[in-house]
Amino acid sequence: MSENLMSAAVARTDAVVFVDNVDAGYLPGINILNGCSLTAHEGELIGIIGPNGAGKSTLLKAIFGLVNVRSGKIWLKGEDITNLKANKLVSKKVAFVPQTNNVFPSLSIQENLEMGVFQNPKDFNERFEFVTNIFPDLGKRRAQKAGSLSGGERQMVAMGRALMVNPSVLLLDEPSAGLSPVRQDEAFLRVKQVNQAGVTVVMVEQNARRCLQICDRAYVLDQGTDAHTGTGRELLNDPKMVELYLGNLAEL
Ligand SMILES: Nc1ncnc2c1ncn2[C@@H]1O[C@H](COP(=O)(O)OP(=O)(O)OP(=O)(O)O)[C@@H](O)[C@H]1O
Ligand SMILES: [Mg+2]
Repeated sequence: MSENLMSAAVARTDAVVFVDNVDAGYLPGINILNGCSLTAHEGELIGIIGPNGAGKSTLLKAIFGLVNVRSGKIWLKGEDITNLKANKLVSKKVAFVPQTNNVFPSLSIQENLEMGVFQNPKDFNERFEFVTNIFPDLGKRRAQKAGSLSGGERQMVAMGRALMVNPSVLLLDEPSAGLSPVRQDEAFLRVKQVNQAGVTVVMVEQNARRCLQICDRAYVLDQGTDAHTGTGRELLNDPKMVELYLGNLAEL
């Protein structure tokens, strides 16, 4: 067995999520992900950064069965989950918070959270307590319609709903997008708190510096492939990374 094959075999059984050399896309003949790989171990907070259009959201969607994987494999704790549908993944304790349209605007906060636990409604009280511990505002304002909330508040509802399934893996697409700096800090704090509660987190972030500061390891996606990887600190301190991906834009 070559070294690569050997490390793939180890990652497949050891990792919580192992994306192995995946090609995926939306339109026939056009791959958005090209040989993309990623490993998340138990309890890790993994960051995904990279330019707009690099395929970051597509990678999360590929893991969550929302875009067709054309070649390569995706493994969850040693089980092949390639192209498994989202509802199946939810029952395997994988949760996904999309980049946009991630709340039901006509439903109240509480109803949004109920949607999160629809496969196991009897778990509602216990999960509601866990979620409102991390996001106290969601409890206090449970009757308010999600459509009347600010962007930041909606993100909290979306994350809260994802946490209702008691996920072992949380896939987060840009939790800080569109938030004021103070709200961004709050969002990152919450993500860290969720991770520290034992949830493996794979988080896409536009705010690359901030993401690298809080994650254990990160992947830089460029043109559909994992171009660089390392610990957050390694990538932050790598002059090449700063030049290519962490310039002025990331400091905004
Ligand atoms: N539903 C879709 N149908 C066709 N092409 C799509 C679809 N969604 C995304 N794409 C294309 O896939 C490419 C990667 O998009 P993706 O959303 O994964 O990038 P991203 O890295 O998340 O970018 P951003 O930082 O802007 O969120 C883009 O060229 C985009 O136009
Ligand atoms: Mg995106």
